[in-house]
Amino acid sequence: MKKELVKTGFDKKDIVSFGNMFLLANGRYGYRGTLEEYSADEMVGLNVLGFYDKYQDKWRESINLPNPFHFVTSVNGEVTSVLTKETKYHELRLNFFDGVLERLTEFDKIFIFSKRFVSSDHKDLLVTSYKIRAKESCYINISFGVDENIYEINGPHFSKRRVELNEDIAVFRGITNENKRIASVTKYVSSLPFEVSNNTYLLKKEMKANEEITIFAYSLINQSGAVDIPSLETLVSIGFNNLLATHIASFNKMWEISRVEIDDEEGQFELDYSIYHLLILADEESVKSVPARGLSGQTYKGAIFWDTEIFILPFFTLTNPKFARNLLVYRINTLKGAMQKAREFNYQGAFYAWESQDDGLEQCSKYNISDPVTNEPIRTYFDEKQIHISADIVLGIYYYIMYTGDKTILDEGGYEVIYQCAKFYKSRATLHNGRYHFDDVIGPDEYHERIDDNTFTNYLIHHAVECAITYGPESAKEEFGDFLKNIYLPKPNKDGIYEQFDGYFRLKDIKPEKVKAMVKNEKEYLGIYAKDTKTIKQADVVSLLVMLRMNDFAKENYEYYLPYTEHGSSLSSSMYSILASRIGKEEDAYQMFRKSSGIDLGTNQKMYAGGIYIGGTHPASNAGAYLSMIFGFAGLSQNDEKIAINPQLPSEIKKICFKFYFRNKLYEAKIDDKNFELTEVINHD
Ligand code: IFM
Repeated sequence: MKKELVKTGFDKKDIVSFGNMFLLANGRYGYRGTLEEYSADEMVGLNVLGFYDKYQDKWRESINLPNPFHFVTSVNGEVTSVLTKETKYHELRLNFFDGVLERLTEFDKIFIFSKRFVSSDHKDLLVTSYKIRAKESCYINISFGVDENIYEINGPHFSKRRVELNEDIAVFRGITNENKRIASVTKYVSSLPFEVSNNTYLLKKEMKANEEITIFAYSLINQSGAVDIPSLETLVSIGFNNLLATHIASFNKMWEISRVEIDDEEGQFELDYSIYHLLILADEESVKSVPARGLSGQTYKGAIFWDTEIFILPFFTLTNPKFARNLLVYRINTLKGAMQKAREFNYQGAFYAWESQDDGLEQCSKYNISDPVTNEPIRTYFDEKQIHISADIVLGIYYYIMYTGDKTILDEGGYEVIYQCAKFYKSRATLHNGRYHFDDVIGPDEYHERIDDNTFTNYLIHHAVECAITYGPESAKEEFGDFLKNIYLPKPNKDGIYEQFDGYFRLKDIKPEKVKAMVKNEKEYLGIYAKDTKTIKQADVVSLLVMLRMNDFAKENYEYYLPYTEHGSSLSSSMYSILASRIGKEEDAYQMFRKSSGIDLGTNQKMYAGGIYIGGTHPASNAGAYLSMIFGFAGLSQNDEKIAINPQLPSEIKKICFKFYFRNKLYEAKIDDKNFELTEVINHD
């Protein structure tokens, strides 16, 4: 079993993608997979979940903290870093079952080793060890401490900040532009003495061949700004190895339920790696939800999108229902912001933010993309027109209830969310010829803005309003009954194809490859060229069929839309994979599954939308890989109290084994070629 992601060799062009690929996180903090000698230019980032700040008129985003794990080593007076010196060997090794990253670099005179983790057990703690081994006698000088040169997209985020170096503890205190305090205390421990000099710690030593120096760094963050040295000292006294062991034990525990075993080596590796990227986002104490780029940085402002309810929530519903519930509580807590947004657009009820932060207010800019050549902002309407977001959230609540049976969520604010979303849609609809239409919207395919009657959106709205009636009091039937009955639901044409929106069939019949060839600059936004064509960014009708389990004409729509789909969003391929499994196209399903599962393993992902950096990890795609396996290949389905599997295996996979929660019970599904069984796991904690 391959437990590690290993990359050898150093190439400057991989710095950013490796930062994402080797990310460590614990659902509260994300520490990018960067090297100790890196700084802001190499996108070092210690990202804080749900701690947002706005600087002047720039985009409000999650903050990054100064880096407490900054180490620069000089040998005989020369900085010896991958950025300045040839390496003889360089390796990064992420153990994704343990959540531990190790680095080994060999230079001509020294080796550098490091080992770090973001504790899954003590959620505010990050720990590293940094070791130098001399290959021959040399004079070593290690400068280390807290690097204040912070990578930020829309910063600076601290109006005041200070790092104070005491004997062996560095104290960082910051006050953000929004007047929030945050602090970290980092203790550096070595058996050799070190001193404070010019805002860093310095450890100097004449070394003999094979001699080693190790420095441990323990960093404790406090989000109310308290400088809690006693707690840090207590943790330090536990020691590196013991802290590492409890971190690993707690991380391994999450794996016990979440692992999906398959008999396909490459697929297994990518699936494990994808699940790793989901597990590092779980914090059962947090109700701050999960941003679209996880904890890999400030991309998309650290905001929460529909990615969470449609992709990430189902993964946690099956593997960690407690955390899944927290994701919904986040939406309950941000209902006020959604209602404010609706009012701002003169609607009633709750229009959830396309990009949501702690207060639920809309953070999506009106100019979300820029021209990479002229830098001119490009007007986008994602905030105003992707009205499906509210219905996606209702769908998330619906499936959560279906799988967990936990209706208490409704009384604790969940029904109010559903009700306010239904109210929003009623006020947003326009009545023509006795039917309620939704004009001037954007569906999941963002390349076609401001279109009428997006089939996906209308059906999702219909489902949301149905939920408002099903879960609501009698009065809800009176309020929404007629509206529900008359929502316009586009029907398939004579070939069984649902028109993506009114007028889609009349667009130019140009496929993605041709549209891509029109682009003059590789960072240019494809939407500019795709908007008059049938090329779509991502699964749209296909997402609808998957999400609402609509089986009629699934094959026809799959085949019709596939050639027009660019998969320009990482949310696309898993939808195609699930549908492909359902219609017996297992080989397509497998290819699409691999596209989702391998998303964060490549070094040539799409990093720009227009001139805007959109790089980072892709939790929705990671979750999409899991969903492709469970709902696609294993064919898990639920009908009221009943749960079933109906495997559709591609030739690459003969065995699938996984555990999942359903209505408070833990089950195990075992699929082995033509045989399969579903059993309840008794005696688990
Ligand atoms: O939510 C997605 C959207 O569907 C496509 N653009 C990126 C967003 C965040 O992942």
